[in-house]
Amino acid sequence: MPGRLDPKPIPRRDFLGLAGLWSAAIAIVGSVAGMAQLPKPRVLPEAAGTVKVGPATAYPAGTVKVFTDHRIRVIATDQGVAAMSLICTHLGCVVAEGPDGFHCPCHGSRFDAQGRVLGGPAPRALHWLPISRAADGSLLVDTKGDVPPGTFYEV
Ligand code: FES
Repeated sequence: MPGRLDPKPIPRRDFLGLAGLWSAAIAIVGSVAGMAQLPKPRVLPEAAGTVKVGPATAYPAGTVKVFTDHRIRVIATDQGVAAMSLICTHLGCVVAEGPDGFHCPCHGSRFDAQGRVLGGPAPRALHWLPISRAADGSLLVDTKGDVPPGTFYEV
């Protein structure tokens, strides 16, 4: 008579059934873990906020600076300093600058130099961002904000 230390071998049919159940359980857990990551957009920047872009003296008229980590472009003209988001308004890809504006590599939206939509699926112009001054004199760009296109901060 077999005891606890001498178990009966599992019949082949039962073993295959258990293996199938374990495989199904692992597949379900893996699928749920994969789906949990889907709502997170992969092309949007990390948590946005206020970005220091340097002192106002670093922006004489004609200056153009791109802050790739924050997906913003800061320009200076005789009117002052302005910042524009480089995030496409369609699905959030980062636009590339070209000779006559911006181009989105994802679905082909095109924008002029002021960020206005020239073509493609983008529903809105690129966002212009508010600029303010920090206590230490640095310029701050609010990447969550929005100002009308053509808004310059007087320095
Ligand atoms: S994300 Fe730019 S066109 Fe689709």
